[in-house]
Amino acid sequence: MILVTGGAGFIGANFVLDWLAQSDEPVLNLDKLTYAGNLENLASLQGNPRHVFVQGDIADSALVARLLAEHRPRAVLNFAAESHVDRSIHGPEDFIQTNIVGSFRLLEAVRAYWGGLGETEKAGFRFLHVSTDEVYGSLAPSDPAFTETHRYEPNSPYSASKAASDHLVRAYHHTYGLPVLTTNCSNNYGPFHFPEKLIPLMIVNALAGKPLPVYGDGMQIRDWLYVRDHCSAIRRVLQAGKLGEVYNVGGWNEKPNIEIVNTLCALLDELRPRADGKSYREQITYVKDRPGHDRRYAIDARKLEKELGWKPAETFETGIRKTVQWYLDHGDWVAHVQSGAYRDWVQKQYA
Ligand code: NAD
Ligand code: TYD
Repeated sequence: MILVTGGAGFIGANFVLDWLAQSDEPVLNLDKLTYAGNLENLASLQGNPRHVFVQGDIADSALVARLLAEHRPRAVLNFAAESHVDRSIHGPEDFIQTNIVGSFRLLEAVRAYWGGLGETEKAGFRFLHVSTDEVYGSLAPSDPAFTETHRYEPNSPYSASKAASDHLVRAYHHTYGLPVLTTNCSNNYGPFHFPEKLIPLMIVNALAGKPLPVYGDGMQIRDWLYVRDHCSAIRRVLQAGKLGEVYNVGGWNEKPNIEIVNTLCALLDELRPRADGKSYREQITYVKDRPGHDRRYAIDARKLEKELGWKPAETFETGIRKTVQWYLDHGDWVAHVQSGAYRDWVQKQYA
């Protein structure tokens, strides 16, 4: 089996669902269920014996050691993190605790477990660390996209804490020989995305008749990748990635934020027109910029394509349409997240 951490969050849940749809191999899912962890994302797996959920912290060394000894996974995939830049600006402490201390404790527990494996199991074992393009810092308009050798220049407490975890992962390979793989991916979007991030927030606010808050001039650029393409990249790297290597994952979809918001408004105008016949664009409001806001991210994903043959399946046009449709079809999920009712799900389902 494989151990997935953070598998009740946005990308982790998509990964677990895709994995179990495509493979017979069971998943042990360790998630602390912070505000971002939502077991409703995994509701379709209820009663599935191939999914074992454990609520717990990656920084709980005793728990992780026990889970590793009991379940003997052949791989650990680390998705668990505090992931929202704005929250990291308001309160960096949780980011230091989970992304740095948590990743360190997880690595230590995995190192001890891996060290005790027999030769064959030891050789086949993998620790895959899921990271972000934000560790590379911000690009000027004409700079080439980030390659895997771009220097680390993190600018937010979030990206600095992810950078620290990437360095620890690298060090555990070089110092202890731990068989690690790291992926650095650009901005994801798709189903189960918590509505504090740009795309789901804009969809949910638009439908609720609320303002669509664009930071600064809205000309900051991100590269966007449909979440299931990120999941397929991670599966591919786990299967064939070279030990100790880093793989950048991206969608070749660089877009300024205002273009994203306009696209979402146009799709909603088509799929769920406003009652007054006006465009959702009327709700766009420019607000104060994020402190230290990175201007541009862009990913050069050619290494992953050349060496492992991975390419995204969705274009931005197909992925964003699916995403808007998903939010229109899942009003209950949104309502539960907004009311906090999703947090009662654990009690209800697992009491
Ligand atoms: P998310 O915030 O939606 O989910 C994080 C999950 O981790 C939640 O389920 C939460 O409960 C869990 N968690 C938090 N702290 C934990 C702890 N101490 N122990 C166990 N579980 C804990 O995040 P996401 O967007 O799904 O991101 C997943 C990973 O991918 C993160 O490492 C993030 O840095 C990385 N990443 C995200 C993006 C993106 O666009 N969202 C892009 C590139 C990389
Ligand atoms: P976000 O989804 O928070 O991801 P990240 O900061 O990790 O890239 O934000 C994406 C971009 O959208 C970023 O440039 C900040 C901007 N943004 C807004 O303009 N308004 C918003 O309300 C949010 C949440 C983000």
